[in-house]
Amino acid sequence: MNGSNGNGIPATGQAVNGIGSADDTRVAEGEQSQTLTTRQGHPVTNNQNMRTVGSRGPTTLENYQFLEKITHFDRERIPERVVHARGAGAHGFFEAYGAVGDESISKYTRAKLFQEKGKLTPVFVRFSSVIHGGHSPETLRDPRGFAVKFYTEDGNWDLVGNNLKVFFIRDAIKFPDMVHSLKPDPVTNRQEGARIFDFMSHHPESMHMLTFLFSPWGIPANYREMQGSGVNTYKWVNTAGEGVLVKYHWEPKAGVRNLSQPQAEAIQGKNFNHATQDLYDAIERGDYPEWELCVQIMSDDEHLELDFDPLDPTKLWPQEEFPFLPVGRMVLDRNPQNYFAEVEQVAFGTGVLVDGLDFSDDKLLQGRTFSYSDTQRYRVGTNYLQLPINAPKKHVATNQRDGQMTFAVDLPKGANPHVNYEPSSMDGLVEAVPAGKDHTPEYNAKLVRQSLDGRNEYGQAGDRWRQHEDWEKDDLINNLVDNLSGATRYVQDRMIWHFSQCDPEYGRRVAEGLGVSVPSTEPIPTEAV
Ligand code: HEM
Repeated sequence: MNGSNGNGIPATGQAVNGIGSADDTRVAEGEQSQTLTTRQGHPVTNNQNMRTVGSRGPTTLENYQFLEKITHFDRERIPERVVHARGAGAHGFFEAYGAVGDESISKYTRAKLFQEKGKLTPVFVRFSSVIHGGHSPETLRDPRGFAVKFYTEDGNWDLVGNNLKVFFIRDAIKFPDMVHSLKPDPVTNRQEGARIFDFMSHHPESMHMLTFLFSPWGIPANYREMQGSGVNTYKWVNTAGEGVLVKYHWEPKAGVRNLSQPQAEAIQGKNFNHATQDLYDAIERGDYPEWELCVQIMSDDEHLELDFDPLDPTKLWPQEEFPFLPVGRMVLDRNPQNYFAEVEQVAFGTGVLVDGLDFSDDKLLQGRTFSYSDTQRYRVGTNYLQLPINAPKKHVATNQRDGQMTFAVDLPKGANPHVNYEPSSMDGLVEAVPAGKDHTPEYNAKLVRQSLDGRNEYGQAGDRWRQHEDWEKDDLINNLVDNLSGATRYVQDRMIWHFSQCDPEYGRRVAEGLGVSVPSTEPIPTEAV
């Protein structure tokens, strides 16, 4: 049946692009009707009563319809994402400008989705908060995830970003510790400022992110009025195999709006789903959210003249030196039909790049790239890439087959179904022709465990403090004091020291709020106490 089901809820089979639609072959084989069936297609004539011996008697074990229903219900949940569990999603499109600023984009990248002015690529976006569970309030202080899946003609590209443009740490080996400090205490099951700042006080590189996160920038008003950023440094590669470093930025057409802590608390008292509701309602009424995609470009060198390493995700690239260059726009114009099938099961990863896009040596990015598909094989299952929301919108011809829940082995015409290996002389699948020269960076270095040089850990955090408006500064100080008040005196002193290095006024105001004085020397690290 097409159209609405009478409740204003669209019936199945109406999705554009096949995502989230009923499977076409099933529809074609039998007339669709609203008659309730089991998952085997048997009509259900009584959905109100179990089968029992007499109206008061015991139930029977051959009660297939009931057993199927209850056992399926028992398995309705899959593991939540270990981070970014709470989210909302929408479909839309990306429209390329066919240029990067005023220059030809092919000078920098051969990625097909960017080349032609007006070229449209379907996208699916998932916004999220990070630390708490799947139904936690959307007013909590947290970075917001901003993950975009581009279904390109060359396969999928995932740009898995956040709203804030920097991160707490720059080495992936620290990620589980960082997340543990932000998640609830393993004994009390409560998020504790004392634990967060205990960890952060050992990481001067986190001051920049904290100066954003504890200000109103840590609570965006909703998903439509926030920026997005790839945070990590990536590369673009042209046909000659030459690479440049790039950073990605999404700029919202609606502008940026953030909430103070009291404003967020007022919203949370009435509606803890406000951001999901805002996105869904805006799309339903045709007020489609839109962002412009901009890039910053830098040559692929160490850049010792800068006071930050271009591979350090705790630092920004100053816009005066590396301007935002627009390359396209994204519009979200369709809500998901089934939250679980689309928003819950969608799987993004930083390894999912198309030809012309590449990784940089950013260590946080490289660690992330292993983590995403690893967790998705556990969270969704081995064949998560066969689900409609994750499958590319181009033909997949792979010898990676089988495993739990396999349903698609769709060989191209002429391919020999007996050959599931490569190379073969019997009409098996063959390698693609490269679209350009390989990008082949050279390495000559010792294998070490050594931190990237932070160069100037406090400079940009201090700039951020000074750029905040007065109400943002006041909110930041209140939130820091509130969260630091339960920390040990040692952790308080270390944090005040770090803030003072960013800007003396910043440190002084936190110290005043806590009723302590600014330490005259750096408190020695705990390990040395
Ligand atoms: C070493 C650092 C990091 C690691 C190991 C890591 C790992 C993970 C994992 C395991 C997930 C859950 C994925 C899933 O279940 O599908 C996730 C989700 C996510 N991460 Fe990261 N992450 C890291 C840093 C970052 C950074 C720097 C950003 C922002 C640029 C980011 C943005 C996201 C987003 C947006 C999601 C949610 C994707 C979705 O909506 O499904 N992560 N991350």
